[in-house]
Amino acid sequence: MTSFLADLASPQPGRGGLPARAHLDTDAPRQSLDGTWQVRRYPSPRHLTEQGDWSPVEVPGHLPLQGHGTPIYANLAYPFAVDPPHPPDDNPVADHRLEFEADAAVLAHPSVLRFEGVDGAATVWLNDVELGTLRGSRLTTEFDVSSVLRTGKNVLFVRLAQWSAHSYLEDQDMWWMPGIFRSVTLLARPSGGLGDVFVHTSYDHRDGSGTLRVEVSSASPATVTSPAFGDLVPGETHHFRSVSPWTAETPVLYDLKVQTATESADLRIGFRTVHVEDGVLLLNGAPLLLRGVNRHEHDPHRGRAVDLATARAELLLMREHNINAVRTSHYPPNAAFLDLTDELGFYVMVENDLETHGFELNGWRGNPSDDPMWADAYADRMTRTVERDKNHASVLFWSLGNESGTGANLDAIAVWAKSRDPERLVHYEGDRRSIYTDMYSRMYAMTDEVERLGSGSAPSPRNLPFVLCEYAHAMGNGPGGLTEYQDLFHKYPRLAGGFIWEWVEHALHGGVTSDGRTISLYGGDFGEKVHDGSFVVDGLVHADKTPGPALKDLARVYAPITVVLAPGELTIVNRYHGLDLSHLDAELTVDGTASALALPKVEAGTAVTVPLPFDPASTVTLTLRHRDHGHEVAWGQHLPSRTRPALTGTVTPSGVTPSGVTPSGVTPSGVISSGVTLGPAVFDQATGMPVRLGDLDLHDVAISLWRAPTENDRGIGWDETNLPPVADRWAAARLHDMRTRLVDLTTDGDTLIVRTRSGPPIIDAGVDVTWRWTSDGTALALDLTIEPYGAWPCDWARAGVDIRLDRPTSRVDWTGHGPGPQYPDTGQGARYGSWSADRDEFAVRTVRPQEHGARRIDDATVDLAGTGLRITGVDVPVTIRPWSREVIAATAHDHELPPATETWISVDAAVAGVGTASCGQGVLPQYRLPASTHHLHVVFHQS
Ligand code: GAL
Repeated sequence: MTSFLADLASPQPGRGGLPARAHLDTDAPRQSLDGTWQVRRYPSPRHLTEQGDWSPVEVPGHLPLQGHGTPIYANLAYPFAVDPPHPPDDNPVADHRLEFEADAAVLAHPSVLRFEGVDGAATVWLNDVELGTLRGSRLTTEFDVSSVLRTGKNVLFVRLAQWSAHSYLEDQDMWWMPGIFRSVTLLARPSGGLGDVFVHTSYDHRDGSGTLRVEVSSASPATVTSPAFGDLVPGETHHFRSVSPWTAETPVLYDLKVQTATESADLRIGFRTVHVEDGVLLLNGAPLLLRGVNRHEHDPHRGRAVDLATARAELLLMREHNINAVRTSHYPPNAAFLDLTDELGFYVMVENDLETHGFELNGWRGNPSDDPMWADAYADRMTRTVERDKNHASVLFWSLGNESGTGANLDAIAVWAKSRDPERLVHYEGDRRSIYTDMYSRMYAMTDEVERLGSGSAPSPRNLPFVLCEYAHAMGNGPGGLTEYQDLFHKYPRLAGGFIWEWVEHALHGGVTSDGRTISLYGGDFGEKVHDGSFVVDGLVHADKTPGPALKDLARVYAPITVVLAPGELTIVNRYHGLDLSHLDAELTVDGTASALALPKVEAGTAVTVPLPFDPASTVTLTLRHRDHGHEVAWGQHLPSRTRPALTGTVTPSGVTPSGVTPSGVTPSGVISSGVTLGPAVFDQATGMPVRLGDLDLHDVAISLWRAPTENDRGIGWDETNLPPVADRWAAARLHDMRTRLVDLTTDGDTLIVRTRSGPPIIDAGVDVTWRWTSDGTALALDLTIEPYGAWPCDWARAGVDIRLDRPTSRVDWTGHGPGPQYPDTGQGARYGSWSADRDEFAVRTVRPQEHGARRIDDATVDLAGTGLRITGVDVPVTIRPWSREVIAATAHDHELPPATETWISVDAAVAGVGTASCGQGVLPQYRLPASTHHLHVVFHQS
């Protein structure tokens, strides 16, 4: 047992395991050891004698998610002293114990015990015989248990420490959560059975032929057969005159049976060739554009113990949203995930279980990547990654790991991967010189640099294709600027696309509030001393896999087809890798009436323009749906120009005292006793602001230039690292704290004119606002002009009007863009139509509250329990929710927001983009809002 402690400080790979091999589906008997185990915990490997009680734990599962310890979220920072290879003494240990009877079918043969993923560092005993140690938390280990497994009761004992030398290699940005989080299985290994299998295929796009070579290592002669190709000779390259190639668009798989006299494995293989030519990434000879996402394994209840049904549902959701590639950030996924990507069609970059990012915080001193002490551990991890997954058609790339600096150990594993599997490409973002990688990869490079790389004005090393292994940080409201990236990918063949950061948010389930709201937790919520807060919540889908609004936007941006409708013509650009459009149905909707449209033939990589007569004054939408999967692939829309709503008939304001500023006329109870009346509205003479519309009391009507900072507003944009985050700039300028002075309140015929001056305290900059109110007797129209004065120290977040209503909203129905929100650099998935959303959908709730949910409306009706407020205009950004911006900004978690008792509405003349500065570039210049004059025309009706 003393060696347990010594082992924890060893940088060596685990010991006792069998050589890595492919994860094969064979007919040999197997026995799952998943289920309820017993666990007993100790605070430290130095205190293993204080034995507590055994309690049950589910395997697969993480200990901290089952009441044994707490999760820790840290991004780069190691939550322990950086003293490699030593782990801290404060190191929770958990003994796991399982008593089981081995199945007779397994006992009839030699056998192995397979662990597919154990987070932490463990030593394993079976029936008191030490089998060896487990290192590499997301990698498979097999132990030979033939001589240890017995008839009757067996006892499996796994002593697991949270920290070890190998923690230095597992600094991925995610929760630290020890546990046996993937399956444990006993596998019979029949004498003379299969050892390893390595399938090599290629496809020649010039003549449609393919090659196949199946290497088999087995203890007795093996045969290889395929229903499509008959008998094959192991080790020999077979040429087939005609095969159907595998692509994500056409994931054609062929069955293959590899067998010896005692064991047979079923494989599904695909023919494809991935290579680089003249700086372009090619699949089967045609340029390959990766429309990818980074996927961590995450479930709010089960952490990284994600079951296959969930994984399949995730992939289907990705496919419905035009995602065609996955980087398995930052470790190999559950092995069976890759069967799904083969079958459903995804290009996969499998990443090694390796990250040493925390060394960056120490100037990369002592980085394991360049220290010979760790060479074997690096080799071991890469070997196990490649060997396990080498037979998958969907795996096109091996990634050496993530953010591990540079060094000889990385060089060595790159060289090894290349020699072991020359048919796939090697990726590593940290290798900026691309000495040993097959693509130049970066994360979060800004669009102007990507443009330079695409055009060749900035050379990419060794003339390699360029890939963004991470970009567009999908944290909170955003990411803004997806279109700009995609346009570049479409423009320059050298740009092979990339992988959005990231697919799923890693919030953990923290129970339910007394009023039934889900509690979602992030870093720091478990009392961690070192943590990175909400930075773990940054995905296109929420932790429970419900889509956030960005997923719809991404679907539009990633669409493999561009549809452009203009009066008189339709242009379709086919950006598929190889498909024409014959798998799609087209539906043309003109002013709400839909009809089928016969699509012209458009070959991949080409565009067609055809006449399509329609009245320019009609709204026309063309949607293309995938006939087999039923989901919408692409759409385009022509919108007629709309005019601002006009009021017919006028009324003259009454009650205005000539001097403009008068005593308020407000009684102590706050009710207007003698305001200015204009049609259905009453104005407070003291402030010039409307206080009533029909039966609705209007409160706190004010000009506003601020928003509750988004996660992106709180980040430092990579394009302006010399400046604080925009949220801090707003705070410094006290943009949230505007003070207003009524300049005058006058009439001009039937127009009530209110002029106000608003500005934050301390500085001598602000806005002059002219409010021109008119009415037809039932509705109230506002013409607003906002003009800056003085030298503004910062850009604005928005420019518009806030209104508070003293009753809650239940629903909003609107005509305009929807159903999702839209900021100047998001909302690509929002289209013009009639929409309806309940309060929460309209507000768009996020794990950490922030500004969200603006819709561009022409006509919105806000349901206010028995009454309603109708707002009309043209393309007016409107936000509606139960809380003020101050409350949103001051609340750390969604479930802490107060219950809905009132409604805050903003109608804006302009809003700023959101960018992606939580990690990456800020708001692009064209989407910012520097101080300038803005106009708003909007009509309010009580309905
Ligand atoms: C990258 C890293 C990811 C994640 C992301 C920010 O640097 O590779 O793991 O931390 O930034 O969310």
